[in-house]
Amino acid sequence: MSAGLRRASRHQEEKDDDVPQWIPGLGQDKPKPRTLGTSFFGYVPDAFVEKTPYLPSEQSADALKKEAAVEPEKAAEQVADALEQEIVPRDSIERNGQRDMDASSDEGVVTEEVIVPRRAGQASAEPWDVLSPVDIEDGSGSAQNRLLIKGGRVVNDDMMQDADVYIEDGIIKQVGTNLHTPGGTRVIEAKGHLVMPGGIDTHTHMQMPFMGTQAIDDFYTGTRAALAGGTTMIMDFALPQRGESLIEAFHRWRTWADAKVCCDYALHVGVTWWSDKVAQEMEELTNEQGVNSFKMFMAYKDTWQLSDEELLESFKRCKELGALAQVHAENGDIIKENSKKLLELGITGPEGHEMSRPEEVEAEATNRACVLANQVHCPLYVVHVMSKSAADVVSSKRKQGHVVFGEPIAASLGTDGTHHYHKCWRHAAGHVMGPPLRPDSTTPKYLMDLLANGDLQTTGTDNCTFSAAQKALGKDDFTKIPNGVNGVEDRMSVVWEKGVVSGKMDPCRFVAVTSTNAAKIFNIYPKKGRVAVGSDADIVVWNPHATRVISAKTHHQAVDFNIFEGMEVHGIAEYVVCHGRVVVEEGEVRAISGMGKYVPTPVFNPHVYGRLEERERANAPCKVERAPYEGPVAQLNGQGMQEGGIIPVQQETFYTRGPTRSGGVNLHDSSFHVSGAQVNDKSPKRPSVKVNNPPGGRSSGSFW
Ligand code: URP
Ligand code: ZN
Ligand code: ZN
Repeated sequence: MSAGLRRASRHQEEKDDDVPQWIPGLGQDKPKPRTLGTSFFGYVPDAFVEKTPYLPSEQSADALKKEAAVEPEKAAEQVADALEQEIVPRDSIERNGQRDMDASSDEGVVTEEVIVPRRAGQASAEPWDVLSPVDIEDGSGSAQNRLLIKGGRVVNDDMMQDADVYIEDGIIKQVGTNLHTPGGTRVIEAKGHLVMPGGIDTHTHMQMPFMGTQAIDDFYTGTRAALAGGTTMIMDFALPQRGESLIEAFHRWRTWADAKVCCDYALHVGVTWWSDKVAQEMEELTNEQGVNSFKMFMAYKDTWQLSDEELLESFKRCKELGALAQVHAENGDIIKENSKKLLELGITGPEGHEMSRPEEVEAEATNRACVLANQVHCPLYVVHVMSKSAADVVSSKRKQGHVVFGEPIAASLGTDGTHHYHKCWRHAAGHVMGPPLRPDSTTPKYLMDLLANGDLQTTGTDNCTFSAAQKALGKDDFTKIPNGVNGVEDRMSVVWEKGVVSGKMDPCRFVAVTSTNAAKIFNIYPKKGRVAVGSDADIVVWNPHATRVISAKTHHQAVDFNIFEGMEVHGIAEYVVCHGRVVVEEGEVRAISGMGKYVPTPVFNPHVYGRLEERERANAPCKVERAPYEGPVAQLNGQGMQEGGIIPVQQETFYTRGPTRSGGVNLHDSSFHVSGAQVNDKSPKRPSVKVNNPPGGRSSGSFW
């Protein structure tokens, strides 16, 4: 299926009545578009004033790239090692041609149409597969790339304005009207379009070795698909095996990614086990490798799950290093227990996956993670928020002042877990991921409401794709179905459709949740996440009028299934500019592998740590000043037991009358002493209490 056919499924919205007020050039009689406002992070007053933002050194990124390239043999060895850990022989997963679909076509079982999407490196590649990105020559033959995006409406998280954007050498140089641009500048006409920061997908797993196999979308097909959908940066996870060096895992991921990425990327690193060495490597990763976020797992017992004690240690370490702790919040102990019971009951299908980990299993872990992190003053980021109750936990903890962020994903915003109960095994298994999609079909709307209103902040995808044949590794046992779904290509459209077209959020909030908040939370703002002078020229020219129908038949991902199959969405990435290069042109992708760069993420992010120190100080425990206790103290024997039985309670001396016959305090006793020693002079003085509202109501007289 060519990109041309893909476009054939789009059509222009022509009814003016339906045109929202923010669509440029249309609906002129509608109220004026919002041009200024506040965002989750507050109003940015000088957003369009030329500024020198703090940008992590490009040099260090290049140095890192070189570093990863100097030891190709070691890297190759590491890759081989990783593949060796696969339980399943590699040839059972055909990556470049027709896959074996038998596993999903058991007799008598409903089977969906088998979809064979384009493959990377496939012999019969579409013409656009071999096109390079468009180099923008300045006419004089110099290497400078000059591009003008003209006539569109620039949308940032805090304002919209009709403006042109001039780009040179991958950086935005001017934003405004009547710009002076050199001759030979290439022009993209953006009238009627929104010009927004390219999307940042905060959560992907390209080519991840997992559950005995490896995610089928690699850093090439995955990032190319990302660009097709308007995402210009992904944040992936380097996840070491239990006992493995975090730094080695990090370099392995760098080697995989650097060779293939078509867009920029950063790496979170998994703390999948705990030791002093792990703590020390976390420091090296933050200081030398540009890592500022670590993911801890509360599930995947026997592989990556940490105990509460280990979680606390890792949170404390994140806090010391100025990093952001991330959690996969599910109670792995309960999941293990439930899975065993379900299998014993003969429930082996994908529905067992969902049944084994109901919503409260996610909510409990989310709450526990929030409490543990808050107790050690560590900022927390909850990845893949999948349920209402987990989202409520994040939202209520934020209201209590916790520094916690929540990331719903395209899957949890765009579809639901009723699919686990589909009669077609392949369809049901195609939706298996952890934490699971919830069978409550009102969940996506609920999560979108929270995202729109600022209770949740970012959107990722957890893009971790497995073909039908790979999913079929668990055809007789749901615990063996590789967990993961698609999303990297469709996230922007799904959020636009369910968020903006539904009227829950305006385009500014769309930008906030698809890029700006991520850039701020991971400390790469305003290099990323903003269309402003000095920022990277990562831009999507968005056609809000066009529609398309999502399908595995036409998507750019390598996987043969799409959880959003058949969904019609408004909003198309008509042009995508990555580092000033036009990588999507009228919907056609022109990307080359290895074109993207690693983006280091610095620690002690003011957007995350800004109020932590004050908060810690304000909530610091405060000692009560009092005279030391001078009464009798029980004596313990060597075993910690009290010696000589119970010591009788000694009568305090300030009573002037003895106790009553039954041993009670004599009520005729007065606490007033003419000596001046009042009850009890050893206690600190009671502060005087001014009673404004006495019992029985306030009186204006002098009685009180
Ligand atoms: O199902 C999922 N989420 N697969 C990827 C691993 C993870 O937990 O993020
Ligand atoms: Zn996870
Ligand atoms: Zn994940």
